[in-house]
Amino acid sequence: MYHKNILVAGATGTAGRAYVEVFSESGYRVKATVRPGKGKGRVFTNTKGVEPIEVDLRNKNAIEIAMRDTDILVVSILGRGENPAADEDTITRMLVDAAKRAKVEHIIYTSVYRANEKTNVPHFEVKGHLEKYIESSGIPYTILRPCTFMDALNADWIKESVLQKGVLASPTDLETPINYLFSKDLAQFALLSLSNSELIGKVFNLGGPEPITYKEIIRVMSDLLGRKITYHQIPINQVEEQFGFDMAEMIRYFNKNGFTFDMTLTKEKYSLTLTTINKFLKDCGWGTASTEKNSFSRREI
Ligand SMILES: NC(=O)c1ccc[n+]([C@@H]2O[C@H](COP(=O)([O-])OP(=O)(O)OC[C@H]3O[C@@H](n4cnc5c(N)ncnc54)[C@H](OP(=O)(O)O)[C@@H]3O)[C@@H](O)[C@H]2O)c1
Repeated sequence: MYHKNILVAGATGTAGRAYVEVFSESGYRVKATVRPGKGKGRVFTNTKGVEPIEVDLRNKNAIEIAMRDTDILVVSILGRGENPAADEDTITRMLVDAAKRAKVEHIIYTSVYRANEKTNVPHFEVKGHLEKYIESSGIPYTILRPCTFMDALNADWIKESVLQKGVLASPTDLETPINYLFSKDLAQFALLSLSNSELIGKVFNLGGPEPITYKEIIRVMSDLLGRKITYHQIPINQVEEQFGFDMAEMIRYFNKNGFTFDMTLTKEKYSLTLTTINKFLKDCGWGTASTEKNSFSRREI
């Protein structure tokens, strides 16, 4: 049993939930920040070793209190509101400053692949600045730069469209290669950084086992479900209207450049097991007997 306290900031997010699960299953005590007043902490109620704490991360005093007795800080924040990148910037800097005052011994920072490059994607570029802020804080750090999480392929709206209409809808071009990474594989790598000092003071690009396009994902889904799935491209201006410039610019970047990273060396060096999309979807229930018979319902997946 470990005796270290880990604070996961952004614990109800895709990566945040994976960190909480993996760390607590490994015997760490985890404080999981949840937005106040929405009952979001309930997801952790029955998870051994996890204490949900209500914190508005825009509130400096609330961060200060949450940081008490923290040995390891995990930052997994995506900004919200009209200017998400600015929001993320403010919150992350406050977290790092509070961690310094609390003499936290290690920060694990969830950045993004290509954070250090000129992408014109606001929430990517802000992470480039935040990485530098963390590196100059004096706190030992591990910076993780994941590609896109594959978890989104199992989102309710995607499942609903695929299972009910046989259509996979996305703004990403059919031929754009992306290295989808399962959030729990990211969390497993973060866990490794707690026991292997080689991972301290370093930045890691992290992707899935191989680049894959929507064309190939459709084939995987069709095979699992035993019926032909077709593709519908969501226009980029619709993404911009619904989710704002930041998300639209990210998709434009993907479609122009792809988002791939060769994991061969990292995988070998650290003996990583990387989840394939086929396995991920199967584990989520895609391709079960009921779906193969086309008698789908949201509850069955
Ligand atoms: N998603 C991807 O494919 C991907 C790929 C590479 C890198 N990343 C990066 O990884 C990080 C985590 O991504 P994610 O997909 O896990 O994000 P996410 O699902 O949107 O989660 C973000 C978390 O931050 C919390 N949060 C934001 N503002 C808050 C506030 N003021 N007070 C309390 N909580 C607040 C959110 O809570 P609420 O839900 O209550 O707002 C949520 O728990 C981000 O920096 C993202 O850019 C993501």
